[in-house]
Amino acid sequence: MWNICLVGFGNVAQGLARILADKRERLAAKYGFGFRITSVVTARRGCLANDQGLDPAMLLEAMERDGGFWGCEGARMIDPLEAIKSPHTDILVETTPTSLVRGEPGLTHIRTALKAKKHVVTSNKGPLVRAMSELTALAEGSGVAFRYEGVIMSGTPALNLVRETLAGCDIQHVQGIVNGTTNFILTEMEKGKTYEEALAEAQRIGIAEADPTADVEGWDAAVKACIMAVLFMDATLELEDVERTGITEVSPEMIQTALSRGKRIKLVAEVYREKDRVKALVAPVAVPLTRPLAGIMGAMNAITYTTDHLGDITIVGPGAGRIETGQALLSDLLAIHRAYGRGEHPSRSPF
Ligand code: HSE
Repeated sequence: MWNICLVGFGNVAQGLARILADKRERLAAKYGFGFRITSVVTARRGCLANDQGLDPAMLLEAMERDGGFWGCEGARMIDPLEAIKSPHTDILVETTPTSLVRGEPGLTHIRTALKAKKHVVTSNKGPLVRAMSELTALAEGSGVAFRYEGVIMSGTPALNLVRETLAGCDIQHVQGIVNGTTNFILTEMEKGKTYEEALAEAQRIGIAEADPTADVEGWDAAVKACIMAVLFMDATLELEDVERTGITEVSPEMIQTALSRGKRIKLVAEVYREKDRVKALVAPVAVPLTRPLAGIMGAMNAITYTTDHLGDITIVGPGAGRIETGQALLSDLLAIHRAYGRGEHPSRSPF
């Protein structure tokens, strides 16, 4: 039975809670995965703790009803670091809002958990882009897992594909559409919506960052390019090293002109080797309609990996969203369960 501490309860953690509420029995039967949410800690929506486990459906109902936990029995202020270090926490699920400047407060939460020998699952890009190697070393030193499948392409397994399925291949070049919000905006603008209407819709469906400038100015895609450079090409690349242009200057006329020339404007992130260096670039590119990336519409994402053994491999799928990113957290939880499980055996093979 895994004791889970949720720090942050926005869109993504709510997506995970929805899945856990709906699939508790199935996860137990198919994977032998049992869990207790022993604490949920937020900065503005209240906190709850219960060593016997909090019902995820109850947490969602409280959010729906009151926008937080203040009306729930036992609601109180809880110091996130105390909850993380508690003996009733085995796994920290960190989903506080991404801060690309300092990576906080997620960075402190994750550091504290790893030092306290707690496994960590996160979809928070800030701590990764600021301190990936430090956190990876901390996890190794403590003998615990540090997993973050959701930081790129939400639950679409863009990282696990390379880490596990493509193990042994060298990744020579990466090109992708890795920001759902900007792809959604460009798609809606092509259909006739204004930039402002399309952005408002992206915020309403919960795919935009808390501060959507991070999306439209290309920071979010730059962070993802940076993470891919480190993970796939062993490069030490800082966010500031990524050449970056967003979509704020892309007009409806530019979109239509590109289309009349058989191209579609996409915000493309690219990671590549140039001589001895790895470089990363984010920019709006007029992609020929004959290329796979030109057909990726709405909040969908896609990445083409150019590999030595297999040539090009393209993965296409959702890149953002509540349930979609909740799935990424779930797949990380199940990976931890597989690797560190405590004698709970699945009743049948998961495959
Ligand atoms: N704002 C991000 C996007 C969320 O639109 O892709 C997922 O990282």
